[in-house]
Amino acid sequence: MFTMTEQTWNATQYALNGRFVADLAGGVIDLLDPRPGEQILDLGCGDGALTKKIAASGAKVKGVDSSESMVAAARAAGMDAKGMDADALDFDHEFDAVFSNAALHWMRNQDTVLAGVHRALKPGGRFVAEMGGHGNIAAIQVALRAVFSKHGIDAIEAEQNYFPTPAAYESRLRHHGFDVHYIELMPRPTPLPQGGMRGWLETFRRGLFERLRDAEREEAIQETVQLLKPVLCDDLGKWTADYVRLRFLAVSLS
Ligand code: BEZ
Repeated sequence: MFTMTEQTWNATQYALNGRFVADLAGGVIDLLDPRPGEQILDLGCGDGALTKKIAASGAKVKGVDSSESMVAAARAAGMDAKGMDADALDFDHEFDAVFSNAALHWMRNQDTVLAGVHRALKPGGRFVAEMGGHGNIAAIQVALRAVFSKHGIDAIEAEQNYFPTPAAYESRLRHHGFDVHYIELMPRPTPLPQGGMRGWLETFRRGLFERLRDAEREEAIQETVQLLKPVLCDDLGKWTADYVRLRFLAVSLS
């Protein structure tokens, strides 16, 4: 996971409340179609759960992530992982494919990232990724905006997640020398683990809540959970996050 924003990551908390992110990535790994011997870069490898799945194909996978906590977890899982910011990729036409899951939407400088991905790929190399797309976590964003406005904070502005439409991202990819073979926006209502919405907020909006004083933080979490309950929690108390994914396969033209 990249910490280009206020977001900070805790590998232990992520393992409890964020495991579903890797569990739901089967489709994008199928799209990557890794082959034995291929050199693959996992951009925003997090704790290495998907790096490991890709490596099981026989490909040689290197993971990069800007969170030292996540890099340590990936290494502990036996992966070749390195701390690196996404906008400072220093690879030179060495990968057959670059893969990324649930990381691109954290990156503020998309053009620098895409230039680095293009430079990292061999000519004809594949860039296969899934990220939050237009409309992602819409209800959660609106609830957070309502709660944080009372503290003089624009929650959407503060996090600066980037959830593009297919047309916007395709145009960006083309601008950076990619031919876009496939791009699709897909709603993915996502059941949350035991920790429910509180667990999600404490894991994925940790940096935002840390802006509040201790006394205000608990109240803000409870208020956000209560606002979301009628729309994202069912009668049995099961929470579902309103995720929307953007998935694509692009090929480097040179
Ligand atoms: C996502 O994977 O779409 C996501 C997760 C946490 C915060 C924002 C987006």
